[in-house]
Amino acid sequence: MKHILFELQRISRLLLKDKRFSHVQSCVNFAVQLANIHGVNEDRVKIASLAHDIFRDLEPPILIKMANAYKMKVTRLEKLNPILLHGKVAAEYVRRRFNIADKEILEAIAYHTSGKENLGDVGKIVFLSDSLEENRIYENVEFLRQMAKQDMNHALYLIVANKILYAVKRRLFLLPETVKMWNWLVQLRKEDSVWN
Ligand SMILES: [Fe+2]
Ligand SMILES: [Fe+2]
Repeated sequence: MKHILFELQRISRLLLKDKRFSHVQSCVNFAVQLANIHGVNEDRVKIASLAHDIFRDLEPPILIKMANAYKMKVTRLEKLNPILLHGKVAAEYVRRRFNIADKEILEAIAYHTSGKENLGDVGKIVFLSDSLEENRIYENVEFLRQMAKQDMNHALYLIVANKILYAVKRRLFLLPETVKMWNWLVQLRKEDSVWN
């Protein structure tokens, strides 16, 4: 386990620009806090959060090449926006390189940008940390950090709503997985009367 974390740390330092490196370190910090609060295994969360952006600063054609080399399906949207592939390619890399079979770790890395319905706890934590780590500054971020500590599903619901509103306001496309995640969260909300 230690060598995986050490190796991921080394690769991040090598491949990421300073700002991104700092984002990843803060993600790990916040993710570990959430893991402890919500009783999720710390090492799984560390691996996933440390790996989520390892390929984020690669040139788009390299991401396409890697996806092809891994024989991954590349959608039309991903072909047009290869950066969208950085999570999926990272998940596949980590699976092969470290023999990781933990589905929750792999989905957390693969779907940290788009989100996904029925996301597991590791995935929820990585998704939340990606938006809420301490370098992120926007209205309500502190409120959302507290919410993530109290109730992850509720925090996800608010964050996904924000992301969708942001995209639609700027006339940007929505990823199908994000829409599916939204519908899933709306359903969860209906089932949980605590939310308002
Ligand atoms: Fe990312
Ligand atoms: Fe990130």
